[in-house]
Amino acid sequence: MIRIRRKKLWASCFCIVTCFFLLVTLQVVVELGKSERKEIILSSLQDGPLKLEEQKKQAYQFLKKQELFSDVKTAMAVNQYPILLWWSPLTGETGRLGECGKDLCFFTINRTYQHNHMTRAFLFYGTDFNIESLPLPRKGHHDWALFHEESPKNNYKLFHKPTITLFNHTATFSRHSHLPLTTQYLEGIEVLKSLRYMIPLQKKNSLRKRLAPLVYVQSDCDPPSDRDSYVSELMSYIEVDSYGECLHNRDLPQHLKNPASMDDGSFYTILAQYKFILAFENAVCEDYITEKLWRPLKLGVVPVYFGSPNIADWLPSNKSAILVTRFSHPRELAQYIKALDTNDQEYVAYLEWKLKGDISNKRLLTAMKERKWGVQDITQDNYIDVFECMVCHKVWENIRRQEKGFLPRRWNAEVNHLSCPKPQAFLFSTPNVHRASLRDMWIPSFEQSKKEAQALRLLVERNMNFSAQEFWMLVFKE
Ligand SMILES: *[C@@H]1O[C@H](CO)[C@@H](O)[C@H](O)[C@H]1NC(C)=O
Ligand SMILES: *[C@@H]1O[C@H](CO)[C@@H](O)[C@H](O)[C@H]1NC(C)=O
Ligand SMILES: *[C@@H]1O[C@H](CO)[C@@H](O)[C@H](O)[C@H]1NC(C)=O
Ligand SMILES: *[C@@H]1O[C@H](CO)[C@@H](O)[C@H](O)[C@H]1NC(C)=O
Repeated sequence: MIRIRRKKLWASCFCIVTCFFLLVTLQVVVELGKSERKEIILSSLQDGPLKLEEQKKQAYQFLKKQELFSDVKTAMAVNQYPILLWWSPLTGETGRLGECGKDLCFFTINRTYQHNHMTRAFLFYGTDFNIESLPLPRKGHHDWALFHEESPKNNYKLFHKPTITLFNHTATFSRHSHLPLTTQYLEGIEVLKSLRYMIPLQKKNSLRKRLAPLVYVQSDCDPPSDRDSYVSELMSYIEVDSYGECLHNRDLPQHLKNPASMDDGSFYTILAQYKFILAFENAVCEDYITEKLWRPLKLGVVPVYFGSPNIADWLPSNKSAILVTRFSHPRELAQYIKALDTNDQEYVAYLEWKLKGDISNKRLLTAMKERKWGVQDITQDNYIDVFECMVCHKVWENIRRQEKGFLPRRWNAEVNHLSCPKPQAFLFSTPNVHRASLRDMWIPSFEQSKKEAQALRLLVERNMNFSAQEFWMLVFKE
């Protein structure tokens, strides 16, 4: 769709500069599409927590809170309760009266409610957030709420101040968000302490005869974090077994090649044999932490981590991961790992927290205790339910204040609810031409997304609906 819109714009013929920009973005969009698809396949391959789609399905299969409404009942609900309209059709629910404790709200994806006088909030899913047909004009009592658990790869323009501050309520990976999803890939504290997959050090040492000290499994190649450049460089100093599509040098056993068979724990068993796992996120953002970190910790393998710069805030203990940023060059990192590989006492120090079941990080313990949603746990609400109810409560709070003649309580997203620095490429003396071309696209993409964010802000503040064409004209102005 974007492509068509862009072609239109092209047709309206701006200067060559514009065309150049378009070409670059088009390429980025195409690459984005490719890598996203890969990510989806990969997430099943890597046996990570269920992706959103699956969680949704699971949640609604159980019909936990779902009630079926006759038209009459719906009509009644709609006149009595605030309507919270999912502008991204994430839940697929045409209409449901949701119970959030004592507060009831009507949740729907049916856009005909846009102009209903009971409509109090619009809910957006970041990945689907589209400049096309936003619910404008926005009335004073129209709260906008954003749910976005993903990295910036999946919609860069939301990660800038002009856009993120359009929202009143947020649920993002950031600890600063109204509903922080930072631990979204961690099922519970018990899985970290569990010794279920752990392989004794003697066994790991003997396995070293046929396995490298390090393992890497990634099939979403060349993302904004530029991890493949780093790992590629690292590989010239130390042996790495790479099973994924990126930097592939070792095949999985035949019976594991089919991603569907990945769920059965045999993949875990393979990874658990290693001493170190390269745990590199696809983007570098504070608090953006995925199963890439938690998985090695669960398995009793030492993560060599690159991603969230403040990761130390979330680690189970002070000595539970090796942080790539503490080393000036992959060469130094390789040296350190080699030293640990030949010194059992030093190596085991990184697993002591697990062997003793001693998680000393208060922030992590508190976050896990206080979160109101579960991961792959049907006995708990999922984070979408909790997000919906957070908005429902806030909307009701303001309805009650108004009834009593008070001013509404104001809610606004801050820039730190969703922000990631500009992607950075690793620069090593051994240039890698193949990687550079792809990786250099993330930076133009980021730069352009800043312009998109500004244009969007301007148009939303004008508070009239606008066409995609108007938007792109503004983006490519000057
Ligand atoms: C959307 O709501 C309208 C009433 O506002 C109803 O007539 C229509 O059937 C609904 N559409 C769907 C798909 O449920
Ligand atoms: C890590 O060590 C520092 C001091 O060395 C201490 O203040 C902090 O609480 C420790 N953190 C964890 C998670 O154990
Ligand atoms: C929601 O945000 C908009 C735009 O910043 C603002 O005008 C409105 O007052 C906010 N609503 C609440 C309830 O804070
Ligand atoms: C704005 O909305 C009106 C009514 O829905 C529609 O007729 C018009 O085409 C829209 N304008 C743009 C620029 O999308």
